[in-house]
Amino acid sequence: MSWYNGSMDESLARELALLREFGFTHLDLGNGSSQLSALSSQETEELELDVLGREASACVKCRLSKSRTQVVWGVGNPHADLMFIGEAPGRDEDIKGQPFVGRAGQLLTDIIKAMKLTRDDVYIANVIKCRPPENRNPEPDELDACRPYIRRQVELIKPKVIVALGRFGLQSLTEKAYSIMAVRGSWLEYNGIKLMPTYHPAYLLRNPDAKKEVWNDMKKVMAELGMSA
Ligand code: URA
Repeated sequence: MSWYNGSMDESLARELALLREFGFTHLDLGNGSSQLSALSSQETEELELDVLGREASACVKCRLSKSRTQVVWGVGNPHADLMFIGEAPGRDEDIKGQPFVGRAGQLLTDIIKAMKLTRDDVYIANVIKCRPPENRNPEPDELDACRPYIRRQVELIKPKVIVALGRFGLQSLTEKAYSIMAVRGSWLEYNGIKLMPTYHPAYLLRNPDAKKEVWNDMKKVMAELGMSA
């Protein structure tokens, strides 16, 4: 049997592409070393997340690319145990290039702080990376065009728990027609990852009484992650 079957292992191919992207032109394989991989798998995933974000910053897969100021990729710890997934950037996010930095974002930041975490401990992203004009709801074809980004972000970050903020985050990630009112507060699963649907912070700004329900949901998340409330 031949020592080389002609097809390169997929993760090795990805790693080589990343190294090339980061300016490496040669690999020093050392003296008879069998250690071909230059990066740990965590480092490779971190690089891929970064490269994918830079690719997305030039994305023209849907009409939102025409009206956006900038793509809002995601922020936080690329190896976070906890990931928050929202809907789409609003005006403040479109200007600053970061998710959840407007009024709803301040409320999300307060929720994260109440969990005794910081925005740097978690990862925050949206299912839609570009602001819909006048903050209208995303169209189905826009959600379809953007879905591969959030799915790959989840694959690379590998959170233990995802909190889906509102209907669009939940429905677009899972491609299921869940009603947020019906499933809020109950554990779901996405690709083997625990998924907690809860209300969107913008909904909480309009309905402050619902904050206690969201806090109950966050207590379940904290218990799942072994954190004390
Ligand atoms: N609402 C969202 O869903 N995402 C943001 O980034 C800001 C507001």
